Amino acid sequence: MPSFDDVWTDKMYTGIEHIDEHHKRLVHLLIDAFNLVEAGGSAERVREIVAELVSYTKYHFAAEERLMLEIKYPRLAEQRMAHQWFVKELNEHFLTLSSADGTLPAQIFVFLRDWYADHILKHDSDIGTFMRAEEERKGPRKSGS
Ligand SMILES: [Fe+2]
Ligand SMILES: [Fe+2]
Repeated sequence: MPSFDDVWTDKMYTGIEHIDEHHKRLVHLLIDAFNLVEAGGSAERVREIVAELVSYTKYHFAAEERLMLEIKYPRLAEQRMAHQWFVKELNEHFLTLSSADGTLPAQIFVFLRDWYADHILKHDSDIGTFMRAEEERKGPRKSGS
């Protein structure tokens, strides 16, 4: 699996600071999970990292959806559906891992990472574009008035 710098590109920045930090952390976690499975890490460690992925993903999606609601982002419903799909996917893998002697192929994390990178590029970056356009539309705030 390529390193973080091979996966992350400048185009993936939304321009929204906390969202960008979340995205980087998620990409890191997906790469770490892949590397751990590839290196034959213990089932216990794999379960831990996937559990972290599940909880951090939920935390991030909730924060992102809250922001979209606040700024009245028009494509919130579409984002919600995509987020739900990803969480369901992660949960299923976590269940597989938790069953008796469940293991996961490392490639699953490549698939999830690619999906996520694509989601950031095609969907999340648009939130930043929308925010900037809205600020532009409202015009500069007059000082002293
Ligand atoms: Fe999103
Ligand atoms: Fe996101």
